[in-house]
Amino acid sequence: MKSLTYTNGDNMPAFGLGTWKSAPGEVKNAVIEAVKLGYRHIDCAAIYENENEVGEGLQQCIEDGIVTREDLWVTSKLWNNAHKKEDARPAIEKTLSDLRLDYIDLYLIHWPVAFRSDVIFPENTAGYLSPDEVTPEETWSAMQALQKEGLTKHIGVSNFSIKKLQRLINLGGQNPEMNQVELHPYLQQQGLVDFCHAHEIHVTAYSPLGSMDRPDNMKKDGEPIPLENEVIKRMAAVHGASPAQILIIWALERGTSVIPKSTNPKRLKENFEAQKIVLSEHEMAQIAALDEHKRIIDGSFFTAPKKGYTKETLWDE
Ligand code: A2P
Repeated sequence: MKSLTYTNGDNMPAFGLGTWKSAPGEVKNAVIEAVKLGYRHIDCAAIYENENEVGEGLQQCIEDGIVTREDLWVTSKLWNNAHKKEDARPAIEKTLSDLRLDYIDLYLIHWPVAFRSDVIFPENTAGYLSPDEVTPEETWSAMQALQKEGLTKHIGVSNFSIKKLQRLINLGGQNPEMNQVELHPYLQQQGLVDFCHAHEIHVTAYSPLGSMDRPDNMKKDGEPIPLENEVIKRMAAVHGASPAQILIIWALERGTSVIPKSTNPKRLKENFEAQKIVLSEHEMAQIAALDEHKRIIDGSFFTAPKKGYTKETLWDE
């Protein structure tokens, strides 16, 4: 299994299980099934509203002796309503309690967007905090404090542009160790991936299969579907593989971590087995040519211009 090595020598399995959209009632079994299949990296977040059930699954795997805590890599994320210094610690404590863990392996700032602490999803501008009301520096300093306390081994960010990463790097303290972003053949973000790697920031690909199970209000007509791309389908046929497996191995071969979500035992196995496939340089180049810089998760649900949040300020492009 490929792994990504952190500067302190810790290894994160590059292949992991995504849990966004995994329904309570399904995700506990998915976690247990995945761990039995050999998955060792589970990607979580407080806002997925299923960490309690993921935690039940993890606890059962450990109690049944399938794995030890140390065998697992668990990532979670600080929600947008806990960016203030005093809110970050209670947020990670809730996640630790839900996941039934003493520490998280990797804790990420979920989005570079802040909400008031009593708001989960703002209905209007008043629910947001502008980047002046709670600065990225304040949140990053709170993340570093959580790391120093041992509540999380590693810290990073998600959905950050080069400009926003550079602002944290300029502080001269602990750099983000991870940037988790949307990546698939239609949104390859090679410049961002290269920037991260040049600064010892690992990259995780979310929505690697195109997240077709995302809520309808996040869908637009005519969006390209990576699993249905003809080049990917032909390549899959050549390898006796599925399109999903090609998308997964492509992400791993370009040096990123990848967290395909499934709650279906057959697809969990299929996705895990993608790690055995080898793509040629020619095939990697064929996939590289598919880039359209098209986002599935375009962040338009976080629009509050009066608080400084637009699609342009979010992605800095
Ligand atoms: P399911 O959970 O029923 O398996 P993403 O990881 O990009 O968010 O995509 C998740 C979506 O892809 C879910 O709808 C999931 O459905 C589906 N999926 C997961 N694995 C596969 C696979 N091997 N083939 C086709 N669809 C898959």
